[in-house]
Amino acid sequence: MSAAAPEPISFNPFKRLASDLRIERAWDGRLPPGPTGFSLERTRRAARDPLPMLLDAYREYGPVFSMRILHASGIFMLGPAANHYMLVEKAENFRWRDGGFVDLIPLLGDGMLTIDGDYHRRARRIMLPAFHRDRIAAAQGTMVEETLRALDGHGPGEELDVYHWTRALALRIAMRALFGFRLDRPGVDMAVEFERALSYYGTDYALRTLRGPLTPWGRMQASRRRLDRVIYAEIARRRERGDFGEDVLSLLMQARDEDGSGYADRELRDQLMTLLFAGHDTTTSTVSFLFYELARHPRVLAGLLEEQDEVLGGREPAAADVTGEALPRLEMALDETLRLYPPAWIGPRRSVEPFEFGGFRIPGGVPASYCSWVSHRLPEVFPEPEAFVPERFSAENRAKLPKGAYVPFGGGSRTCIGMRFGQMEIRTIATLLLQRMRLALRPGHAMRVRQMPTLSPDGGLPMLVEQRDAPVPAA
Ligand code: HEM
Repeated sequence: MSAAAPEPISFNPFKRLASDLRIERAWDGRLPPGPTGFSLERTRRAARDPLPMLLDAYREYGPVFSMRILHASGIFMLGPAANHYMLVEKAENFRWRDGGFVDLIPLLGDGMLTIDGDYHRRARRIMLPAFHRDRIAAAQGTMVEETLRALDGHGPGEELDVYHWTRALALRIAMRALFGFRLDRPGVDMAVEFERALSYYGTDYALRTLRGPLTPWGRMQASRRRLDRVIYAEIARRRERGDFGEDVLSLLMQARDEDGSGYADRELRDQLMTLLFAGHDTTTSTVSFLFYELARHPRVLAGLLEEQDEVLGGREPAAADVTGEALPRLEMALDETLRLYPPAWIGPRRSVEPFEFGGFRIPGGVPASYCSWVSHRLPEVFPEPEAFVPERFSAENRAKLPKGAYVPFGGGSRTCIGMRFGQMEIRTIATLLLQRMRLALRPGHAMRVRQMPTLSPDGGLPMLVEQRDAPVPAA
């Protein structure tokens, strides 16, 4: 595969549907067993509540099975061995661009999530230094500053929607770390435009197929154009003045591959939009789910508060405090949160060549997905999978997990490039929240999990702010 930019794809949903059906007809061989008849009910469940449906299918058919959702048949590969196969052993045989990530191209372009092969390897080589440990440590000051600012004015007695609060905060942090933008600067409100563009992916599939200026598609494209104008103007300004800072855009503008080539302006734009997309929703959801579970597990919460006091004694966390080793209880709670609620819960791909897995020969060109959400809830791997038990992730227990069992950040050569950044951000926000307040669930509040585009608490997560040293209630 050459390092040339990938072929453009059609954004016309009907052409894509026709192409899916054409590819399906050309499959050389049969798919593994599974429910492949057309079913509106299954399609509806896949959109609203796929976890029980996929778990049931796993029990019935084993780690690889077929399923038709709407018009398209594909396979699911679940469990540790399947994850390892798709992410590490035979990763090259599974393309990202023409799996489900294709839907992101109209907004993100040809960024890291929608490219493959040599073109992806080159892009990743150029980007890696921007996510080096030292660079992330340098951004931690911004994380503290923005979190303190966001906490300002909040206190006991009020109700705080932890999801929406964290989302706005994560976007501010991302804007500063990625673009060097402070959101209070005048001009286009990048955060609002970006959220507007993203809301397209939260609308029903049927509405998403409509075209025209007043449709969700039209609004997404209008936001995209406004965002693009700001980003391209910023790139031009920096090139003209040689005005580079410490943000990721500056680093990427100056970064070079081994042959001396760097990102063109279009690549810069696509990669930055992809980082913004991949980076803010995932961290937001993780902070929210962590505090949801802590509110339901007072013993775990008490342990975390004790650890905070022992290690930090009330001082603000520096980068060295939030690397993971310094606050092991927080780390285990975070790992357990990502087990139960891996925000990027599905890894959609398309097979390139025919392959064998689980005793089946599967054709090339087949949509194939791994799913961390299901894999993390298999009782044979994680006993009592629904229970929130951070001790599962003690060093000793973690070492016993089979390869591919725990994949909240994917795996292999395409493991999440922002993992360290995201973890440091979550630990920083969580630490500052734990130091300053107690968050309790509103009586009777039942959280529902929404899964598109990433797992998140449906409709937000309203919580009650209490005094930090309020007595810990019984479980
Ligand atoms: C809790 C936080 C995060 C989680 C759980 C998470 C999860 C993931 C997962 C599961 C993948 C692989 C997807 C697949 O195999 O289909 C991935 C890839 C990726 N993530 Fe993250 N992510 C997080 C934070 C971030 C952040 C903060 C950034 C950037 C600032 C980021 C940027 C990316 C990129 C660019 C890729 C694609 C890597 C490649 O193709 O080489 N992520 N992430």
